[in-house]
Amino acid sequence: MSVASPRALSASARSALVEVTGVHHRYRSSGEVLNDIGFTIARGEIVALIGRSGCGKSTLLHILAGLIKPARGEVWIDGAKVDGPSPRRVLMFQQPLLFPWLTVEANIALGLHFTGQKKEAPARVADLLRLVELQDFATRNVQDLSGGQQQRVALARSLAPAPQALLLDEPFSSLDTFTRSTLQRDVRRIAHSLGLTVVVVTHDIDEAAAMADRALIMTADPGRIQSDIVLRTLDAGSDGFQRARTILAEAYEKAAGRQLLAVGSTWHN
Ligand SMILES: Nc1ncnc2c1ncn2[C@@H]1O[C@H](COP(=O)(O)OP(=O)(O)OP(=O)(O)O)[C@@H](O)[C@H]1O
Ligand SMILES: [Mg+2]
Repeated sequence: MSVASPRALSASARSALVEVTGVHHRYRSSGEVLNDIGFTIARGEIVALIGRSGCGKSTLLHILAGLIKPARGEVWIDGAKVDGPSPRRVLMFQQPLLFPWLTVEANIALGLHFTGQKKEAPARVADLLRLVELQDFATRNVQDLSGGQQQRVALARSLAPAPQALLLDEPFSSLDTFTRSTLQRDVRRIAHSLGLTVVVVTHDIDEAAAMADRALIMTADPGRIQSDIVLRTLDAGSDGFQRARTILAEAYEKAAGRQLLAVGSTWHN
């Protein structure tokens, strides 16, 4: 499929940070995984990518990050075609992937060393420690921290090179409920305060409702975007969890033809 240049796109697409057009992907061993994926994401918007296990969420996130080249279609971020990884868009995983023998501040500073910003590191690390509320842990070894604190270090490290887009792949699913919901709120607060665009992969409706302004619901075999749902407007602040959850639950019930059971439900379609 031919892809329009950013100039040829509509006004709303032009103001978007992320533009995905006609993305297809297949793996040699598992066949077609993504089929004609297309969407835009506005600057500063937080979008949840929801779908059942195996529908292609991680594959799509890796394509957005430039870590996988799609078989067809294109991804544009801030007017430039994605053709490889970049510190301007960072991916965070379920496990924090820290260097256990280094301190909290050294782990955070690594992101800056890799991007040649060593001189700025001390001031920037101090800002980031405040942002993720770990100022009292700067000189601790990361292996002495809790899982939630380690995920905060990973978040600060991801934010160190001042990315435009933060791509989260079920980042809090290994944490307990309380820690998880605190981090969900914190990521939303931090993303909005920095004007960061976020894509969060989850199969947890409550996580999507807590974090996202919008949800893209995927179906499987092959992965497609089934619906695109506005949960709250960009300027709605951190309110609106219940409303967002109701909107998502209704969408689920319509798609699945049955009722969602309780809070904490995961997405099965
Ligand atoms: N490297 C790979 N080689 C071959 N097939 C793969 C590869 N990675 C993923 N797949 C297959 O592609 C499909 C989509 O996988 P993907 O990891 O993107 O799904 P997902 O929606 O993230 O699932 P989960 O919620 O379980 O993490 C699955 O059928 C998976 O088996
Ligand atoms: Mg996955």
